[in-house]
Amino acid sequence: MNGQIDWPEPIVRVQSLSDSGFPVIPDRYVKPPTERPASNSDGSDVNIPIIDLQGLLYDDETIFAQISEACREWGFFQILDHGISPKLLDRVQEVWREFFHLPVEVKQSYANSPKTYEGYGSRLGVEKGAILDWSDYYFLHLLPLKLKDYNKWPALPADARQVIDEYGKEVVKLCGRLMKILSINLGLGEDILQNAFGGENIGACLRVNYYPKCPQPDLTLGLSSHSDPGGMTLLLPDNQVPGLQVRRGNNWITVKPARHAFIVNIGDQIQVLSNAIYKSVEHRVIVNAAKERVSLAFFYNPKSDIPIEPAKELVTPENPPLYPPMTFDEYRLFIRMRGPCGKSQVESLKSPRDCNK
Ligand code: OGA
Ligand code: NI
Repeated sequence: MNGQIDWPEPIVRVQSLSDSGFPVIPDRYVKPPTERPASNSDGSDVNIPIIDLQGLLYDDETIFAQISEACREWGFFQILDHGISPKLLDRVQEVWREFFHLPVEVKQSYANSPKTYEGYGSRLGVEKGAILDWSDYYFLHLLPLKLKDYNKWPALPADARQVIDEYGKEVVKLCGRLMKILSINLGLGEDILQNAFGGENIGACLRVNYYPKCPQPDLTLGLSSHSDPGGMTLLLPDNQVPGLQVRRGNNWITVKPARHAFIVNIGDQIQVLSNAIYKSVEHRVIVNAAKERVSLAFFYNPKSDIPIEPAKELVTPENPPLYPPMTFDEYRLFIRMRGPCGKSQVESLKSPRDCNK
């Protein structure tokens, strides 16, 4: 685990900066010009693929093909009719919105540290003097069960723990279904990908992002460009406010969320397991002056202490393994030390390169 015990600087809640009504953001949040939202934001109508899973009931082949193409071409897609009740999705969103609206003293009792990151946080990475993102968050573990600790989950609103628990179980099931589809699409047996993740012993955690209103949204980002270090991410976006942008070449595409859909994306571990047939794609979040935004990122990860490497079925003399074996425990130390840093980590495994930040 990360040896760090505490943050390098006193923590400032972005929510408190936003609530102060001050019209200028502190320098700590001002990004270099090339990273600001205006650079290369795509104003067009392009959206990531939207796939209706209801089709799996009668036409597997078409849906499998749509998912295959989305994984190869985009690394990102939205799924509709995924089987999780809209009522549960609305409630879990609302639970978190209510949590972030609780008085600061209540939230403060869940303040996190870089040791495990569990709880209420306002930065990722422990580099002193780093430029920060315009967001607060809450991070918690659902699996493995030995890491699940209700005391580190919010006790308020009153139904929070029960709703988060139910939500987590449903999303784990949905991820299991998607893993089978990805595995078959890669030409592997349906259980190969799941087994490479450690079978039933996978990891699952939730990061709830709270992006307060920002008086100078053109100067900062809610979340800097990164690829997700884990296996696969299911994001429940805010149903009112867009913000997520996905890199497409040199452009950033703003995702238009479909109602009650999940946004699915490939993480670095599936890039490694698929020997880069599927790629984890960079994404970032922009903020705005008019409305706060709440999103729930659910990370479905391999068991943290087994080596992850390209599936042997995908390695041939023509396609040698692109990555050496590495456990997820080792892998995620990087993002936890340095904060979000584009795709520098998974790329660095291929050819050593620094993060230029
Ligand atoms: C993340 C993430 C996107 C969003 O938490 O890793 O990419 O829209 N979130 O909040
Ligand atoms: Ni992400």
